[in-house]
Amino acid sequence: MTGSAANRPAPVAVVTGGARRLGRHLCEVLSSRGYRVVIVFRQSADAADSLVAAIEANGGVARAVQADIGVRADVQRVFDDVAAHEGRVDLLLNNVGNYNPQDVTKLDPAVWDATLATNLSGAYYCCYHALRQMPDGGQIISIGMAGLEGIRANTRGADYYVSKTGLLVLTRALAAGYASRRIRVNMVSPGQLDNSIDLPPPDKIGSEVPLNRAGTMTDISEAVSYLLEASYVTGANIDVAGGYRL
Ligand SMILES: NC(=O)c1ccc[n+]([C@@H]2O[C@H](COP(=O)([O-])OP(=O)(O)OC[C@H]3O[C@@H](n4cnc5c(N)ncnc54)[C@H](OP(=O)(O)O)[C@@H]3O)[C@@H](O)[C@H]2O)c1
Repeated sequence: MTGSAANRPAPVAVVTGGARRLGRHLCEVLSSRGYRVVIVFRQSADAADSLVAAIEANGGVARAVQADIGVRADVQRVFDDVAAHEGRVDLLLNNVGNYNPQDVTKLDPAVWDATLATNLSGAYYCCYHALRQMPDGGQIISIGMAGLEGIRANTRGADYYVSKTGLLVLTRALAAGYASRRIRVNMVSPGQLDNSIDLPPPDKIGSEVPLNRAGTMTDISEAVSYLLEASYVTGANIDVAGGYRL
């Protein structure tokens, strides 16, 4: 490492929903790639603390912040806190995405409001505040579930697919709007991960997923790792789904 690189502070990643499952894995990968990680959790304080301890045990730097990202004041507080402690955001990883599927003929307006508030408005609040302390060349990656499901009629989980399709529209708009600052904004869309509540049994998965297996967290983190280095890619939605959307 050259002297100037050695003196450069480690980049800062803010990961929403980072304490458990996919978000936790992505925090660990980002730490192994040299990021200082700010883990945003809502209820899983113990899991967040254990992740901070695990990252520190591996020589990384992390801390956890509690917030409901669907609440604007909470998100403002998180990023004020990041400004005070880390002083910058090099990467925002919007990982939160709640999926409580109901049939569209019975979809409760309260469920609709909660899904849109968290998955879409919450992601926008995070983008808004992160971008204000992001240096030129920073980036935003959102975890989606976006493709034709948002357009093709789907009676189950309409609120979720509307939120993820909206997040893709936001991703593309922000990519265009911030390109002059070399800030790249992209999405990675899994299909059926191996921890999905909708996962078909192994002998049936081929009828939903042409590559005949569920996705793994590593499949997703490989796409995120690609985007971290892909300096000519912005406004993209990388489908990491084994052909689920074909
Ligand atoms: N799993 C899949 O098969 C699959 C498939 C396609 C796409 N995805 C997408 O991949 C991402 C991660 O999926 P996952 O299954 O790992 O997620 P998950 O377990 O459903 O949720 C991840 C975390 O989100 C946090 N969270 C939820 N609402 C929040 C809020 N209002 N404010 C702050 N944090 C909140 C929760 O934190 P606490 O525990 O701290 O409350 C939870 O641990 C999501 O965007 C999802 O849509 C997943």
